[in-house]
Order: sequence, then structure tokens, then C-alpha cells
Amino acid sequence: MSQYVETFKTVEWTPQGVSLIDQRVLPHREEYLVCRSYQEVADAIRAMVVRGAPAIGVAAAMGIALGIKQSQASQPSLLQDEVAQICETLAATRPTAVNLFWAINRMKSLFSSLLARGVTVPEIKLRLEQEAIAILNEDIAACKAMGHHGASLIPDGKTVMTVCNAGALATGGYGTALGVIRAAVEQGKQIDVFALETRPFLQGARLTAWELLKDGIHTTLITDNMAGHFLHTSSIGCVIVGADRIAANGDVANKIGTYGVAVLAKENNIPFYVAAPLSTIDLAIPSGERIPIEQRPSSEVTEIQGVKIAPEGVAVRNPAFDVTPNRYIAAIITERGVARHPYTQSLPALAKK
Ligand code: MRU
Repeated sequence: MSQYVETFKTVEWTPQGVSLIDQRVLPHREEYLVCRSYQEVADAIRAMVVRGAPAIGVAAAMGIALGIKQSQASQPSLLQDEVAQICETLAATRPTAVNLFWAINRMKSLFSSLLARGVTVPEIKLRLEQEAIAILNEDIAACKAMGHHGASLIPDGKTVMTVCNAGALATGGYGTALGVIRAAVEQGKQIDVFALETRPFLQGARLTAWELLKDGIHTTLITDNMAGHFLHTSSIGCVIVGADRIAANGDVANKIGTYGVAVLAKENNIPFYVAAPLSTIDLAIPSGERIPIEQRPSSEVTEIQGVKIAPEGVAVRNPAFDVTPNRYIAAIITERGVARHPYTQSLPALAKK
């Protein structure tokens, strides 16, 4: 691969509504779902049509713009209750990825400032649409900047392990963790990727493998329980993952299974990196214990792609994320640079830059 070429759009604003590549049916079918109302956007986020922290934020911003575009309100003040209702519906979809709440708050503050300035209803509709598109474009730019800052951390000629999907499918485009890998490949480095399949939703097997193979990046798929074996026996240069929420002390919530891989990486002296935009950093939360962890339906564990694999009546737990304590994290790569220990100092410094 020389330069990355975009071959699909994860989230897109269209005249018909918010278009999403349907991540439930990849890699077998490349289908797009057009959400024609904010409720449909909320349903799509909950059902994982769109997933990945930054992509969820972009989709929510577009959902708000779409909901307001369809409003019948004649006066700007009459939009207030609708904005509140739309934001509440979208905020109730998934609790862990803070990008969702970051994007909702950004759209809400823009609306309040437009209201205070006395602008007209058509102008509010246009400005909210422009803001949602700006959030998408800024996210792509942030991913490219993470690639720029993080590529030098990826060793040439080695294997890089990743968990879940933190690629173009999880962002506006290009990706966070996969963006860093892409940038390293664009610099001419020889990199193989070990993708963990990521039970139960199989983001690694279905999504990471799909998008990296499209790019011509050599990818080996392994099951989650093989991570320790390969970290111990193969020439793995580093592990790099994305994040759903990073607390002020650098604790990172990411896809379930990440914590175990981080511990195994440390045990084997392999650096463990996190790549995430500043919109994923939640400085209001002092440590990972306070990050809400989404619990998903038991059917995701008892079935694989609709096929039952467990006996009827078995008890099931299905937390979608875990928290990796900051001591396992060698660096956090953001669009403004690379943060290292102590994160209580380096993260606010980057946020202020
Ligand atoms: O449940 P998902 O698929 O939304 O979880 C996604 C992850 O955990 C990603 O690693 C994270 O959102 C970072 S995506 C750039």
C-alpha cells in the first residue's frame, strides 16, 4: 500500500438522511442503511449498525441535525423541547463511549448560542447540519494526525496486535489504532497485523480483517484466547488499540478483552499503545472505576450470527467493555501528540494545547 484510498463511507450526510454502512452484515454484504429520522439513527447506534466511539459521535451529531431539519417549529424557541427530546433519545443508546455525549453537548451548545443570538429557524437547521458535517471532517483529520504522531512508535518488520475494530469503520474514516498502522505502512514500514476476533460481536474477524485486507495490509486472524500464546512466542512489536473513554488518570475503557491483552503485553515486555482523539478523553472522570460499562443482550453470547451455541437457560454475562489501568499503557496517541505517564499531567496538557 502506498497511500490510503477510502473505499467506503462509514457515516455520511445525504439529502435522504444519515447513511451508514451496515456493520452487522459485513464482511459478507456491503450494504448501506439510510436513517430517515433521528429515532432511526438512535436505533442504528443501539443495534450496532454503526459502532466504534468516534463513529457513534458523528452519527449522533447527524441524528440531531436530521431531527431538527424535520421539525415543523415556526419559532426558534419552539425548537428547544425538540432538541432536548432528540438529545435524550440519542444519549440513551450506548453509555460507555464518551464521544457520543461529547458530540451531543457540542450540538446542544451550538443550538443554545444560535438561540441566544436570535437567528431564524432555517438558519439554525443549516448551522446544525454544517456542524455535524464538521464533526465528521474533524474526526477524519484527527485520525490522520494520530497516524502522523503514532507511526514512529510502530516498529518496522514486526507484527502489531490489535483488539476489536478501531479503523475507518469505527471513525469518520482512516481509523485511530488502524490509522496509526496505516500511517506506518504509508511510511514504507513492513507490518503484519494480528487481529483478535473479538467475541461476541466479532469486530476483529468481521470488520478489522475486512478493512485491512481491502488495503492490502497482511492480516492474521486469531481467536481471543490465543493472544497470550502469540505475545509470548511471536515477534510482536507492539499492541495498539482504540478507546471508548479515557479517564483523567489514563485508565482506558475499550472493548472487552483489552485488559487481558494489556496485562499479557506487559508480562512479555511488549509496549501497549492506545490511539484515541481528544473527544474520547473524559477529564471529568478521575479514574476508570467511574466509567459506566454497557451490558449487552445475553443472546450475543449464546448465539453466533443467529446460531445457538449454548444450552437454553444458562446464565450469561455480557459486558461490552473493560477498563485497562493506566500502568499497562506505554503511551496514548492523540491528534495533538503522544501522552505518557503521568497521564494526570500529560492528558490535560494535550487537551489545553
Ligand atoms: O462495541 P463497539 O464495537 O462500539 O466497541 C468499539 C471499541 O471498543 C473500539 O475499540 C473503540 O470504540 C475505539 S474505535 C476507534
